[in-house]
Amino acid sequence: MTRVFDDDLAAGFGTRAIHAGQRPEPLAGAIMTPVYLTSTYVQEGLGQNKGYEYARGKNPTREAFERNVAALENGRHGFAFASGMGCLDSIMKLFRAGDHFVCAENVYGGTFRLFDKILQHLGLSFSYVDTRDPQRVADAMTPATRAVLVETPSNPLMRLTDIAAVSAIAHRSSALLIVDNTFASPYFQRPLELGADIVFHSTTKYLNGHSDMIGGCAVVRDDSLAERLQFIHNAAGAVAGPFDSWLALRGTKTLHLRMRQHDANGREVAKWLAARVGDENVYYIGLPSHPQHELAKRQMSGFGGMISVELGSRERAAHLLGKVRVFALAESLGGVESLISQPAGMTHASVPADRRAALGITDGLVRLSCGVEDVGDLLSDLDQAFEDMPGAKHGSAATTSRTRDTIRSGAA
Ligand SMILES: Cc1ncc(COP(=O)(O)O)c(C=O)c1O
Repeated sequence: MTRVFDDDLAAGFGTRAIHAGQRPEPLAGAIMTPVYLTSTYVQEGLGQNKGYEYARGKNPTREAFERNVAALENGRHGFAFASGMGCLDSIMKLFRAGDHFVCAENVYGGTFRLFDKILQHLGLSFSYVDTRDPQRVADAMTPATRAVLVETPSNPLMRLTDIAAVSAIAHRSSALLIVDNTFASPYFQRPLELGADIVFHSTTKYLNGHSDMIGGCAVVRDDSLAERLQFIHNAAGAVAGPFDSWLALRGTKTLHLRMRQHDANGREVAKWLAARVGDENVYYIGLPSHPQHELAKRQMSGFGGMISVELGSRERAAHLLGKVRVFALAESLGGVESLISQPAGMTHASVPADRRAALGITDGLVRLSCGVEDVGDLLSDLDQAFEDMPGAKHGSAATTSRTRDTIRSGAA
C-alpha cells in the first residue's frame, strides 16, 4: 500500500505541496511524474516483478498523488479514487450489516443519497444529528455505532464540527471519526492532527483546483486501517485513473497559493454581501457574526472561499444566478474560477424537500465558490447582479432572516 516518504514530512506545507511523493523519474530524470498509461507490467519471471503487477492495484502516477495528499494531510497512507463518492463508498465497505453510524445532518446531498438510498438497504443504519453540538453526537451513540461522519465546514450551510471534541466522543465508544475535509482543504485544516481516523476529499474540488477532473482521496495514519482500505481499494476497484491522478498532482502543487487567494477573496465577498443583505443572512465562517467563528479560528488556519447567502426567495436567487457574468452558474466548487449555485435545486436536490426545509436549505439560499480572480471584478459582478433585485429591498435583512428562522423552526 502507498505510504508517505518519511523525509517529506520534515518539509513545510508549500514544499510538500510541490515535492511530496515525487522523485525524479529514473529513466530520464523527468522532473514531472509521468502519466503511466498502462494496465499491466511485464514481469521478469514467475513471481519476479518490480512491485507492480496490475494497475488496479498500483500505478506509479496514482501512488505519487496518494503520497502527496497523505503528506499534505500529515497522514501516512493515501488512497486515490475515481470520485469523492467512490471514495466514501469504499470507506463504508470497512463496515458490515448491522453497524450504526452517526452522521452530521448537513452533508453534501450525494453523501446523504448514498446512505439513504443505497447503504441503508444493505443493513447499515444512520442517525443524522446536528454535530455543531458534540453532546448530540454523544447522545446518538449506540453500542452498534462504528463511526461518526462529519463534513466541516458543511455543504452548503457552513456549519462546523469541533473535530477534537467529537473524536474524543467517537473513541470513547471505539468508533472511528471520518471527516470530509473537501471545503477546508489540508491547507486550512488537518483533521488527523485533531484526532480523526480517516480524512477524505472530493479531489474534484480544491485539491485539483482547475475543474478538469473528478476524483477522491482518503488518508489515514493507522497501518492496520490502511491495510483494510488497501484491500477494498483493489478488491472493489473504484481507483483513480493515471491521467486524473496526474492532473490532480499538478493541481496540488499550487494548493497553498490558491487557498490564500480563495481565502482573501472569500473574506472580501462575504463582507460585501453582509453589507448588502445583512450579516445574519451570510454564512461565512470568517465573519465574526458567524456563530462558530471562534471554533473556526481554533481548528482552522483560514476560512476559504465558500459562502452561502440567504436571499429570501427562489425568485431573488434566480435573479442573482441569471445576472452574474464572472461567477458562472454551475455545480461544483473549489476551482480557480468563481461559481455560483442554488443548493436546493442543484447539489442538494437529492435531499427531500421537507428535510431541506428543516435544515435551512431554502429555495432562496445561494452558494458561492469564490475563485482566484481579481476581487474587484467579483464585487462589480455582484454589484450589477444585485441591481433591480425583485421583492423587498436588498437591505431587508430582517425579512430574509425571518424567513430563515421560520423555516428552521419547522413552521413553514
Ligand atoms: C463536500 C463534498 N463531499 C463529497 C463530494 C462528492 O465528490 P465527487 O463529486 O468528486 O464524487 C462533494 C461533491 O460536490 C462535496 O461537495
